[in-house]
Amino acid sequence: MLQIKQLNQYYGESHTLWDIDLLVPKGECTCLMGRNGVGKTTLLDVIMGLLRLQSGQIILDGSDITKLPAEKRAGLGVGYVPQGRQIFPLLTVQENLEIGLGNGRKKLKKIPDLVFSLFPVLQEMKKRRGGDLSGGQQQQLAIGRALVLDPSLLILDEPTEGIQPNIVQEIGDIINKLKNEFGITVLLVEQKLPFARAVADGFVILDRGRSVATGAIDTLDEKLIRKYLTV
Ligand SMILES: Nc1ncnc2c1ncn2[C@@H]1O[C@H](COP(=O)(O)OP(=O)(O)OP(=O)(O)O)[C@@H](O)[C@H]1O
Ligand SMILES: [Mg+2]
Repeated sequence: MLQIKQLNQYYGESHTLWDIDLLVPKGECTCLMGRNGVGKTTLLDVIMGLLRLQSGQIILDGSDITKLPAEKRAGLGVGYVPQGRQIFPLLTVQENLEIGLGNGRKKLKKIPDLVFSLFPVLQEMKKRRGGDLSGGQQQQLAIGRALVLDPSLLILDEPTEGIQPNIVQEIGDIINKLKNEFGITVLLVEQKLPFARAVADGFVILDRGRSVATGAIDTLDEKLIRKYLTV
């Protein structure tokens, strides 16, 4: 479904991603892991077309999207929930959700009911400003905003970062539901191991800008965890 081949990226002179190969199989959840600063967010931003790559290929459902502008990628059904959520604090919940309308695959005119059925709290808080929501509610809003695009591939960057445990559990349930009931393919960046194990089928570990290990999530063992994940 999503395939990255030999991707290299630089920030100015600084070579950040090195010869990355990555496969996100259709209908599965793949978890991108690695310590702070190894290049996880950079890779997601390159996939979304928000950062330029130096070389390599990005293939989505068999089409080469390497040179496609960011807004066109959303139109192909790639939804992005960025790290830190990036909610517009002064816009209402409803306005935050409406931002994505018209950019997705179906050019929807109205926020799909699915968003409110998955996140009833967003219905209740429709008129509140984004900035007045709790961290967990903002995360739900960020996921809701990505779902407005009707994505076939959903990319989430540390959706549990700084969020209270009951909402973490809820977000895990939602990811599983999106995958199992709606057939959405998921690429997830996550540092919490129990969460990764609860939602992911496969893992990829980055270390200093390189892909160093990959496999089914149940093959992620203590040795890999000690070498690449614990601090
Ligand atoms: N805009 C930028 N300009 C220059 N260097 C950057 C920029 N953004 C990130 N970097 C550097 O690139 C490297 C990878 O950063 P990135 O944010 O992709 O890591 P990450 O794995 O997402 O980390 P975290 O787990 O903390 O979110 C880091 O060394 C970081 O300092
Ligand atoms: Mg990051």
